[in-house]
Amino acid sequence: MFIDMHCHILPGLDDGAESVNDFREMASLAYDGGTTIMVATPHYMNSAQCTAANSKESILRTYRLMKEETQRNNIPINLYLGSEMLCGTGVNELYSENKLITINNTRYILVEFRFDDDIHHVEFCLNSLISCGLVPIIAHPERYTFFRDYPYGIYKCIEMGCKMQINKGSVFGKYGEYPKKYAKWLLSNNLVHLIASDCHDTVSRTPYMGDIYEWMLTRFSRDRINELLHDNQKKILLDKTF
Ligand SMILES: [Fe+2]
Repeated sequence: MFIDMHCHILPGLDDGAESVNDFREMASLAYDGGTTIMVATPHYMNSAQCTAANSKESILRTYRLMKEETQRNNIPINLYLGSEMLCGTGVNELYSENKLITINNTRYILVEFRFDDDIHHVEFCLNSLISCGLVPIIAHPERYTFFRDYPYGIYKCIEMGCKMQINKGSVFGKYGEYPKKYAKWLLSNNLVHLIASDCHDTVSRTPYMGDIYEWMLTRFSRDRINELLHDNQKKILLDKTF
């Protein structure tokens, strides 16, 4: 059973699910693929990918409604809340104003960057989060050119305490040849802490994790598979250090 820690499943908040029906279909497809826990991570602080309604309050409200939806309709997915925050300067202020949305209210926070961000800006932002006592989980590092242009960036971020989350679609070439190669390189060098779907719909960027599980079966030990698809996620939900 898998824990999917990066899901755009809450309807009407970003470029993921658009309706409650989309939410239901995505949850159902996730369950078919072996996922039993999903962490809803709507884009946050990202004006390009959020609707006008995207605020901490609207995210919390939608999460509660969808949590009720799963219980009322016996949808076999246990839903948790987080966000995918576009990381920029000013995170200290957001933290002190209690505006950040961490994963299940733990120290762990899923963050993304602009694709053309500079590695020094990235490190500055991550250090700001770490100075607040948070643990950044970097969403899809394989997709960023700043890591490609600065090969030691990944090692440095991990040394700083960050966790790396790759997208299952990257391994299958969903985002092009470079992210595919880089995701595989990260995996084979033990530089990945978790694999997630980064699902947006049921057709293109889906929550079905059965495909990545199948792919991993012939390449990794059972323990490593469990670690990347379930065990590390469990530690994050429980706010444990790893
Ligand atoms: Fe995402």
